[in-house]
Amino acid sequence: MSQSRYKTMGQQFGRRSWAEPWKIKMVEPISMTSPKERQKALIDAGYNTFLLRSEDVYIDLLTDSGTSAMSDRQWAGMMLGDEAYAGSRNFYHLEEAVKTYYGYKYLVPTHQGRGAEHLISQALIKKGDYIPGNMYFTTTRLHQEIAGGTFIDVIIDEAHDPDDTHPFKGNIDPEKLETLIKKAGKENIPYVSLAGTVNMAGGQPVSMANLKATRKLCNRYGIPIYLDATRMVENAFFIQEREAEYSGKSIAEILKEFCSYTDGAWMSAKKDHLVNIGGWLAVNDNELFDKLRNMVVIYEGLHTYGGMAGRDMEAIAIGISEAVQDDHVRSRVNQVRYLGDLLSEWDIPIVQPVGGHAIFLNARSIYDHIPQDQFPAQRLAAELYLDSGIRAMERGIVSAGRDPETGDHRYPKLELVRLTIPRRVYTQAHMDVVAEAVKAIFDNRKQTKGLKMVYEPSVLRFFQARFESIT
Ligand code: F0G
Repeated sequence: MSQSRYKTMGQQFGRRSWAEPWKIKMVEPISMTSPKERQKALIDAGYNTFLLRSEDVYIDLLTDSGTSAMSDRQWAGMMLGDEAYAGSRNFYHLEEAVKTYYGYKYLVPTHQGRGAEHLISQALIKKGDYIPGNMYFTTTRLHQEIAGGTFIDVIIDEAHDPDDTHPFKGNIDPEKLETLIKKAGKENIPYVSLAGTVNMAGGQPVSMANLKATRKLCNRYGIPIYLDATRMVENAFFIQEREAEYSGKSIAEILKEFCSYTDGAWMSAKKDHLVNIGGWLAVNDNELFDKLRNMVVIYEGLHTYGGMAGRDMEAIAIGISEAVQDDHVRSRVNQVRYLGDLLSEWDIPIVQPVGGHAIFLNARSIYDHIPQDQFPAQRLAAELYLDSGIRAMERGIVSAGRDPETGDHRYPKLELVRLTIPRRVYTQAHMDVVAEAVKAIFDNRKQTKGLKMVYEPSVLRFFQARFESIT
């Protein structure tokens, strides 16, 4: 039986009561390779799915980043790109959309999320600072470390337990946060780094109540809160579903209220905003804005394009208004749950409850005979590709990297493989194929051995590390 506490709408009402609020106008052919071709491709890629060629992949669930299908309106908007170096019309559309839906005063465009992370980290963090947050994200933490800070995880304990069905596993633990503030001193905490739906925890949301309490606590100490709004629209959906007083509010209303308790946000538009590239940073503080606007011209581009073409900014502006539509978000999250429910019914261990953007397979439990330093999740992602040409991503010990002080592996509690669902791209039949492939790997799990790392980059090693099979 399904362990998932949050059923699809169809299961709740005894029939399928949702469907995608769009139809398909253009298709991109994909094709399946032979087992022999996949074997060769996998060895050439050093058992790292980031190093596979896309044309060797059948169903690509590596990421939901930059892989969305744009709408006909967004494509029409691309034709209205104003490719002026300065003052592009599209920048003002984007600025207006961010103000309308997120409510922040000042906008700095960036080429993607990590461009914004770089700017905010450099602007706010001084050497020796501590940055509390609700679980690390790879690029976010790295930029905080490069700026001289140390990231401190203050997420609730439940987030580290893949089986715990807490409805808001993205919540901050106020006690952990206050203990840190007292120990480190408020002057050494430049901001709280809050992510709306926590990627590494399984796409888990933060409740409005938790944010309000965090805000109160931060106000007492004069510490600002900056939001990673990358998948905040999905977070708003969970608030609507699980916090009684928000059940009658729209996603757009919830999003704006949530942002109103924060001081600014950075954004990878490649996710929620249904585009292939882009990002931004938005703040309310005029002085900080001035600093960021000076920095953006060094690292990204002029403050009215920040590394994006005019057409990209137009597509984001339109994407923002599509992303906050209730029926869009509902069908997006329910497609992810559809896959999760299939796997749960077969008793395949996944992170519960199913989050907003992906299914996370519990590789530690599936390959309980492979020690963590033989990379069980890396192996599982490789096996999935070998079996069916499906590409997934390791989110375990390889992603966690090494402790900068000791140089040892960080051993995260969560050793996961992420099956990330791009928005508006795959059908329910694709999800069926994925579920059957995972089942085949699961049934064969006892035969599988670990990997050894034979090449290790010094930063963000998961992108380019290479492995060999242990025989
Ligand atoms: N924050 C979160 C929560 C993210 O998931 C990402 C990217 C970023 C920031 C960085 O944004 O890629 O535009 O520079 N996540 C991708 C993923 C790569 O696959 O989860 P970016």
